[in-house]
Amino acid sequence: MEIGKVDILKSLKKEYRYYYGKIKAVDVIEGWLRILKDKDICTYNHSCNVCYYTIAIAKEMEFSEEKLENLASAALLHDIGKIYIPDSILKKKGRLMEAEYRLIKEHSKIGSEILSGNERFKAIEGIVKYHHEYYDGLGYPEGLSGDNIPIGARILSIIDAFDTITSDRCYKKAQSIDKGINELIRCSGTQFDPEIVEVFLKVLRNLIAIVKKEQLNINYDESQIELYMKIKEKKRRLSEEVKDRSDLLTDKIMKLSIEIDDMIVKYNHKRNEQAE
Ligand SMILES: [Fe+2]
Ligand SMILES: [Fe+2]
Repeated sequence: MEIGKVDILKSLKKEYRYYYGKIKAVDVIEGWLRILKDKDICTYNHSCNVCYYTIAIAKEMEFSEEKLENLASAALLHDIGKIYIPDSILKKKGRLMEAEYRLIKEHSKIGSEILSGNERFKAIEGIVKYHHEYYDGLGYPEGLSGDNIPIGARILSIIDAFDTITSDRCYKKAQSIDKGINELIRCSGTQFDPEIVEVFLKVLRNLIAIVKKEQLNINYDESQIELYMKIKEKKRRLSEEVKDRSDLLTDKIMKLSIEIDDMIVKYNHKRNEQAE
């Protein structure tokens, strides 16, 4: 059975719902997410997915609780700038014109500006602003490269791309997990930080192994049920057979007892005759 994004997210949600709930419950984040959800449900769902993957990666990289919370908040809000992009561009089904694409690219800067108004988000402004930078310096908004890109932004950039590839969008159909992984490997060292790609692939491999194990357990249960049904059927047939046999035996005993009764009558009759 092929493992899909839904299976992986289900496993992620089961594993990390505690951290996710904690981050999402922050009033300001909740408020911004509600606006994003009303504006574009696709971007809202994508932001939630990115947050889950981010928590998994932060745990794998053994981030402190504070760093994990900051990164997960940044993940939830990384595309918040899109609330200022007109629907006609954000939800356009066809190919974007150059000017439209230029406007959409503004969302990372707009996002960091929105967050700059709140002291609590000081630590994540940079992560949001630079989540579309490329490791080789060919990204936007500033063309930063390598370690000059904040580590949180390098992490989000990988997860962001992976979730986009494996999700439906108004302009494209979702591709498989394998396609997503191949794309990360293909762009490792150019678009993405190769060391973080390795970590994310490890996280994905672990998740795939968990999902496979769960699916095997389900199959095992199914085979158990099948076995149980077979045994039940066999028992039913056996009890019918025994009943048939016992009926046959009862018949034989009845016949035999009639014969014996008959023999006794005959024997008594003969004795009486001899006595006379
Ligand atoms: Fe983005
Ligand atoms: Fe995104």
